Amino acid sequence: MEFLSACNQMAEMVEESIRDLIGTSQGGKTVRMGADLTPTKLIDQVAEDCILHYLAENPLCRLLISEEAGKVEFKGEQGTIFLDPVDGTFNAVAGIPFYALSMAYAEKGLIQQAFVRNLSSGETFTAIRDTFARCNNKPIRVSDVTNLDECAMSIYGRKFDPTRVMQLGQKIRRWRLFGASALELCYVGCGRIDGFIDLRDTLRITDAAAGMLVCTEAGGIVSDLNGENIQFPNEVTTGRCIVATNGAVHHKVIEYLR
Ligand code: IPD
Ligand code: CA
Repeated sequence: MEFLSACNQMAEMVEESIRDLIGTSQGGKTVRMGADLTPTKLIDQVAEDCILHYLAENPLCRLLISEEAGKVEFKGEQGTIFLDPVDGTFNAVAGIPFYALSMAYAEKGLIQQAFVRNLSSGETFTAIRDTFARCNNKPIRVSDVTNLDECAMSIYGRKFDPTRVMQLGQKIRRWRLFGASALELCYVGCGRIDGFIDLRDTLRITDAAAGMLVCTEAGGIVSDLNGENIQFPNEVTTGRCIVATNGAVHHKVIEYLR
C-alpha cells in the first residue's frame, strides 16, 4: 500500500488506542526504558504497539527505527521508516492538545515521504520529496518574513548554556515553545512560525525526519548550527542541534548563534 494512505490508517488506529490515556496520570506511567534511553510511558508503548502490529501485517519497509523499540526488521522489500509514535508525550499526558504521530519513509539514504498528524486536532502534514508539502491536503509555504525582529520562533536552549539562545530570543518579536518538535517543524513549513531552533543536542532522527521534509518541501531550510546539511546517525541514542527557518532569515539566525 502507498505510504501516506497507510499512515492515515495507522494514525486512526493510534488515535483510538490512546484516547482514554490522554490527560491521565496512567498514560504517563513509566513502563520501561526506551531504545532512546529515555523512559517509555504507557501512552508511548500503546501507540507504538499499534504501529508494530500494523507493519507486521502490512510490511511497508524492511527496517523500522522507532523511539521506543529501536530497530525492528519487517518483511518489506526495501526502505526504512523512522517513527515517533507520540512526539510530545508530556503534552499528551498533561492534556495539552499538541502532540503528534511522526513517520518518515527513507530510501537510498534520503527521506522520501513524511507524515505528521496532530493526534489531538487531527491536523495532518504530509510531504513527498521534490513534489509537495501539504497541510490537510492543501499546499503549504513558509513565511516571507525577512527581519529577525519581526519573527516568531520556537527556540530551545541548553540549561547550562543559555546565553546565545537568550540573545536570539530577545532579538526576535515572539518566542514560543510548543513542546513537540515534529509539529514545530511543520509549523515553520506552513508559515505559522518563522523558525524552530533546538540547541539542546537532543533531537533525534525519529523526532525530526518527517518534520524536516515538510519544512524543506515548503521552502524552508534545515541545517546544523553552522548552516551545513544536517546529518543524523541511523539510531535513536544520538541527538543533534537543529536550525530550521523559512529560509529568508536562515543566515541571520546562524550568524546570531555564532
Ligand atoms: C519530545 C518532543 C519535544 C522536545 C522533547 C522531546 P517525545 O519528544 O519532541 O518537542 O522538546 O525534548 O523529548 O519524547 O515526547 O517524543
Ligand atoms: Ca516520543
